[in-house]
Amino acid sequence: MTSARKLIAGNWKMNGLRADLAEISTLAESLEAEAFDGDVAVCPPATLAALAVDLVAGKPVKIGGQDCHAEAAGAFTGDISAEKWTDLGAEYVIVGHSERREYYREDNAIVKAKAAAAIRAGLTPIICIGESLAEREAGKTLDVLGEQIAGCIPSEAKNTAIVVAYEPLWAIGTGHTPTLEQIGEAHAFMRKALTNEIGAMAATTPLLYGGSVKPANAKDILATNDVDGALVGGASLKASDFLQIIRAA
Ligand code: PGA
Repeated sequence: MTSARKLIAGNWKMNGLRADLAEISTLAESLEAEAFDGDVAVCPPATLAALAVDLVAGKPVKIGGQDCHAEAAGAFTGDISAEKWTDLGAEYVIVGHSERREYYREDNAIVKAKAAAAIRAGLTPIICIGESLAEREAGKTLDVLGEQIAGCIPSEAKNTAIVVAYEPLWAIGTGHTPTLEQIGEAHAFMRKALTNEIGAMAATTPLLYGGSVKPANAKDILATNDVDGALVGGASLKASDFLQIIRAA
């Protein structure tokens, strides 16, 4: 047990149309009837986020964005600033997801600027880190995580809440997950590295595991030391699957 509050967050990625908002309604209504001791968030595509905020109003589900720009406003066609997410009623924003790092060449410095922007706008950033398969096989996992934590965590996190998600690239969308021992090792290391960066706040920072979390493996993963929750992709799209994962926590 850690002293961080539990968080189960769903990342819909570029999935979902208006018709799929029914999943968020079902989720919110089901959770209203249950006493989950923690937070639940869904990060739908930007096109659905405002509608989702209205659907969950007063219910125990929060809405987040999947990315934000580091600037508050300006000539950045297609981008969404952290301030826009706050204005819309979002409470979280994912930054540094490996798909952003890979397809948009976002490096640690960009991720750090985005995380700082999220804090500036009053959001909780969910900062993603994780090693590639080649890095894991070369025995560099902890080095990579250490570099990412040193490079991505803004100094504002010394006195403002953040969330850090460990998402090994080779586990995302693949059905492969690290062993519980590997997850535990990574999370314990992250807690230590985070303590070096932000001091006492690290103890209450939720550390999420992400990458092929499913109803079948959620219980064991979520019971692992220093795992305070999960960032769920594919299995967050259907309320029934996502609810099973939440209940496993
Ligand atoms: P997955 O995605 O659960 O579909 O593997 C996780 C993520 O990318 O956040």
